[in-house]
Amino acid sequence: MKRWIAILVTAMLAILQTGAFAECDDEISNYTRYADYIPQAAEPVGLIPGENHRTLVVWFSRVGNTLFDPDVDVVSSATLNRGKDGALVGNAQMIAGWITEETKADVFQIQTAYTYPSDYDQTVQVGEGQDIDHVDLALASHLEDVSGYDTVWLVAPIWHYTVCTPLRAFLEETDLSGKTVYVMTTHCGSRFADTVEKIQQMQPDAAVIRGVAVSGFDPGSSETEVREYVRSTIK
Ligand SMILES: Cc1cc2nc3c(=O)[nH]c(=O)nc-3n(C[C@H](O)[C@H](O)[C@H](O)COP(=O)(O)O)c2cc1C
Repeated sequence: MKRWIAILVTAMLAILQTGAFAECDDEISNYTRYADYIPQAAEPVGLIPGENHRTLVVWFSRVGNTLFDPDVDVVSSATLNRGKDGALVGNAQMIAGWITEETKADVFQIQTAYTYPSDYDQTVQVGEGQDIDHVDLALASHLEDVSGYDTVWLVAPIWHYTVCTPLRAFLEETDLSGKTVYVMTTHCGSRFADTVEKIQQMQPDAAVIRGVAVSGFDPGSSETEVREYVRSTIK
């Protein structure tokens, strides 16, 4: 009996979670083919040096990898924000900004070779089947040498209840052995899902630590928590 109650509760939670992230944005979807992707227009941003070269902040957001209309409606979209200068800011990007201010670290933006559709639901489809035309996800920029860092912050959204594809691609080509790795997520209900365990599996010789999970519906309300958490890790 207890087992059936547990199964029922798990199923109900799964349904609730699916609904939650599907409703982050409710635009219409008709995207299907990877071949329709548009390559990144500009040179990738790559590594931005800070003052502290022992710490690295790595982030991925839809913003920076999506050709949004400059007038895109950020008010009714739970996944987009505008900075003080009016530029679009992604949720993970916002969190990475707070961490960078606290740590003064070098920053690396993960960018994909092809952009994602501006339609949220289409991106959800693509995120699920990036290789729908049997084309593997390719990154636009790569970190050649991470040997100088002892602490790495990974900041990225949850996609499909796990590590998002671009962060996975980064982790496949970057060896973080011997480093302390803080995992920060942004999500619409799944919190960390299985990301900490997955990242530890991919980087068995790194010390992977669960950081803060920030709701994508209102990331700004987590600023104090994130900043305090980051400060608490600095000796
Ligand atoms: C492809 C895709 C899949 C997603 N899957 C999930 C999910 O499984 N669980 C969840 O809570 N949120 C999910 N989301 C919502 C994002 O995690 C959330 O909107 C996040 O705050 C976006 O961060 P960003 O602005 O840095 O890209 C998904 C979003 C996309 C685009």
